[in-house]
This record gives sequence, structure tokens and C-alpha cells, in this order.
Amino acid sequence: MKRIAVLTSGGDAPGMNAAIRAVVRQAISEGMEVFGIYNGYAGMVAGDIHQLDASSVGDIISRGGTMLHSARYPEFAEREGQLKGIEQLKKHGIEGVVVIGGDGSYHGAMRLTEHGFPAVGLPGTIDNDIVGTDFTIGFDTAVTTVMDAIDKIRDTSSSHHRTFVIEVMGRNAGDIALWSGIASGADEIIIPEEGFAIEDVVESIKKGYEKGRTHNIIVLAEGVMSAAEFGKALKDAGDTSDLRVTELGHIQRGGSPTARDRVLASRLGAHAVKLLKAGIGGVAVGIRNEQMVENPILGSAEEGALFSLTEDGKIKVNNPHKADLNLAELNRSLSSI
Ligand code: ADP
Ligand code: F6P
Repeated sequence: MKRIAVLTSGGDAPGMNAAIRAVVRQAISEGMEVFGIYNGYAGMVAGDIHQLDASSVGDIISRGGTMLHSARYPEFAEREGQLKGIEQLKKHGIEGVVVIGGDGSYHGAMRLTEHGFPAVGLPGTIDNDIVGTDFTIGFDTAVTTVMDAIDKIRDTSSSHHRTFVIEVMGRNAGDIALWSGIASGADEIIIPEEGFAIEDVVESIKKGYEKGRTHNIIVLAEGVMSAAEFGKALKDAGDTSDLRVTELGHIQRGGSPTARDRVLASRLGAHAVKLLKAGIGGVAVGIRNEQMVENPILGSAEEGALFSLTEDGKIKVNNPHKADLNLAELNRSLSSI
């Protein structure tokens, strides 16, 4: 391939800029031309497509957000939108596209693949809920941000002998809660992948204070319920502690990416370009056991493909992401006093 494009889509994630930089600079060093598609799939369909050079991506490696901007554009779930997008790419002479985004963005990449247009998916989301990779770009930064926030809450929590319910993002995945909970020494981690009994949580809070704990930090994944709802459930179940709830919100999506996210983004971005250069599209890149890997985006579960299509054309996720429940078990051992 001689001319490729790159876009960011869905929720932004720290490290997306480092990935864009890697795609652009690697493409140029491979002798290819590279275009930026602004505002995700919306920009693809609208033709918001502009050539980038090495200096277009200078000074962005340290910045959160995405210089190409992002969009939520449900129209791309329709065939008409997808074909219009491909028409725009072809009009610009673009032969392959790197899609940096989360779960929804990958569905878009799958539709491009289905229509025969070469796309490479690159996992960019704080949620870490993408199949085919151990880690996503932005996850490490989000976990670090949450850990810093919990460290601060712990200070005030201890001073006042308070219980805190801290709601963290992750959509339906508990990864951010598990990693930030372990890293900040949480007393409880509540995630959607595991059931919990509210009476047990009430009991553990009570026992904790009796045994001399000065605080109770409960990290709650948003996929379970909101912090406000969880706090109310605790009170309804008899909790008598001095309770506060905090929703960390979009602070988790911003900020300068950690070294780990920058390096991951750089490796994935360069790998995606090498694949397109070799004429390989229709794959999602990822990191497995510290090595770059790629899986077909569309195909059978046996082939290791991320998605299959049902007879009526609906998307089926072959091997849905699973949070590492060993971490939940680890936290139970480490938080017991
Ligand atoms: P994320 O990529 O972070 O999961 P979204 O779920 O909002 O974020 O998806 C981002 C974009 O991907 C959507 O706004 C839409 O343009 C595209 N998209 C989502 N689902 C589909 C789908 N089923 N088919 C085609 N495109 C999709
Ligand atoms: O997918 C990333 C994410 O930040 C989720 O963790 C969260 O549920 C969602 O996006 C928030 O979306 P929005 O930015 O549309 O509020």
C-alpha cells in the first residue's frame, strides 16, 4: 500500500496521540503517504480527511485526548453510512485505514472489513475491554489517575474514620476497579463480573472498624451501579458508618499518558503500519505476553477472529473480554485483617 489513513473514534483515551504519531511517522519512514481522518467515522463519511506529515504530529506524544478528535456517530452502524465512508476513502486514493478506538469502533472496522476495505484495529480505550489484547492504550494512565485519587481520598478518610464508596469507569468491565483497587490497597472491590451480598459488605465494614481500621475504601465499578445507589443500598442494609460517595468521572479519561501507554501506543501504531505496508488488512493488533500480535477482525472463533456474523447479519463477539478474577481473589486476601 502507498497511501493510508488513521482515525480515532469513540471515547478518547490517553495515549491515542502517541498512537497517531507512531502511525504517521512509521508510514512516512516506510515511504507511504498518510492522511488523518478528523472526528472518527463522522469525518470519514463527511470527507474531513487531510494529509499529515511528520511535523503534524510533533509535540503530541505527551498529551492526553486526540488531535484528530473523536465522535460518537451511530449512523456508521448503517450500511449506507459505511459505503459512503468507503467512497470518501477511495476518492482520496486511500487503500487502508487504521482505526484507533474501543469496542464500538472495532464494530465499525469489522463492517469495513466485511465490505472488503482493509482496516487495522488498534485498541484505544481506558476500559481494557477489547478482545485480542492483554492491555488497551489508556488503561494504564486511567488506573494511575484513579490510584492517585484514591490515595488522596484515603488521607481524608483515615482522618475522619469514614467509609468511602468510589465509583470508577470501565463500562461493563471491572478492570479499572481491580487494578486501581489493588494498587491503592482498597478494602473492597466490587465488579460486575462477580456477585456480591450487600449484607456481607456491611458486616466487613463493621468488623474492619472493630479491628482498628481507620477507614473503609470501597472501589466500585460503574458497571455494577452508581456510587449513590451503592451508598443507599449499604444504609438500607444497616450500615452505620460515616459514609461518603465519590464518582471520579471523566478525570479518568484525561491527562498525560504514562510511559507504559506511550510505549504501547508507539509499538501498536508502528506494527499496524507494517501490516498495511505488507497489504494485510482486516486484523486487530494487540499485545499478548509483551509481544505484538494480530487477529482477524472477522471470521470464525477457531481462526481466532474477534467477530463472526450471524445468519441475519448481526455481529457476534467470539471470545468476549474477561477481567482477571485472580486479582479479585488477591485483594480479598490482602485486605483481610
Ligand atoms: P468505543 O469505540 O469507545 O466503544 P462507541 O461504542 O461509542 O465507542 O463506538 C464508537 C463509534 O463506532 C460509534 O459512534 C459508531 O460510529 C461506530 N460504531 C459503533 N457500533 C457500530 C456498529 N455496530 N457498526 C458500525 N459502526 C459502529
Ligand atoms: O469507554 C470509555 C468510557 O469512559 C467508559 O468508561 C464510560 O462508561 C463511557 O466511556 C463514558 O462515556 P461518555 O464520555 O459518553 O460519557
